[in-house]
Amino acid sequence: MSAVRGTGDQADTLRQMARTAKQNSPTPSGAASLTDQQGIRVISVTSGKGGVGKSNVVANLAMALAAQGKKVLIIDGDLGVGNLDVLLGLSPQYNLNHVLSGEKSLSEIIVEVTPSIKLIPAGSGVQEYTSLGQHEKLKLLDELDMLEEEFDIMIIDTEAGISENVTYFTVAAQEILVVVTPEPTSITDVYALIKLLATRYSEHHFKVLINMARDSEDALEVFRKLANVAGRFLDISLDYLGCVVRDERLIDSVKKQKAVYELYPDSDASNCFSTLARRVIENSRQTRLKGNIQFFFRRYLEGSGGGGV
Ligand SMILES: Nc1ncnc2c1ncn2[C@@H]1O[C@H](COP(=O)(O)OP(=O)(O)O)[C@@H](O)[C@H]1O
Ligand SMILES: [Mg+2]
Repeated sequence: MSAVRGTGDQADTLRQMARTAKQNSPTPSGAASLTDQQGIRVISVTSGKGGVGKSNVVANLAMALAAQGKKVLIIDGDLGVGNLDVLLGLSPQYNLNHVLSGEKSLSEIIVEVTPSIKLIPAGSGVQEYTSLGQHEKLKLLDELDMLEEEFDIMIIDTEAGISENVTYFTVAAQEILVVVTPEPTSITDVYALIKLLATRYSEHHFKVLINMARDSEDALEVFRKLANVAGRFLDISLDYLGCVVRDERLIDSVKKQKAVYELYPDSDASNCFSTLARRVIENSRQTRLKGNIQFFFRRYLEGSGGGGV
């Protein structure tokens, strides 16, 4: 899989180039401090436009992380067609809305993907949330605490673009991973997303994953383009996380409603996901400015007008 290195010296130089060494905005009140190394890590996967491979990244990264010993909780926040549940051959009956309306408990809506991976279907909004009584709210917080202990990493699959539903999840997460493809429109769209997140939501740190790259050189070239434009005009830092090559076997896996990591573990794409998972694990937790899973849900619910927990 020689095509997918690209994290050597060249990538390091690019990281340096792109990094503006600016501090993030102050830690929001109630957030865990930087020294708090415990608990779950929350990563939101997002993009400027649809069809760039976010759901595949979420599913396969989760599997690669699980193969490296991590327990992963996925939140399926993409309500469009070609959902993560379809991709994983699941058909969840209930979603987060049923929890927020008090009909179901969190444990009743969680779907097991593999013994190390579980999924929460997000549903289409949180307007019902205020109907939860005090007792139910406390129960939900208890359940969130239990998830915090059970899982190492939470990955959120978001819808594409800059609609409010997308930004709530993204802004609530600790780490933002943007998926970009070599297509020029993907780069301009992600620029718009990063600009919005930086200017309106004070998000300044982004990890970048180039998907459907020809090879690592191609991916670095795309990252360089994005870093040039974004770094010049915005007060942000971009970290190159790595790439996933364009792989026919991934397309074939989608048709078979399986993750490529499961169906073709030795494919080029799967090797890329293994490398990415290793990097995610190695990645220092310096970026964890924003608390734990309760904190994530509080921010999410407050942001989306659900009235907070
Ligand atoms: N690395 C890749 N190689 C080849 N095709 C890919 C790759 N990643 C994504 N695709 C194609 O793009 C389609 C959309 O991917 P998906 O993960 O559903 O995108 P999104 O969630 O961003 O809308 C997939 O069904 C697949 O055909
Ligand atoms: Mg998707």
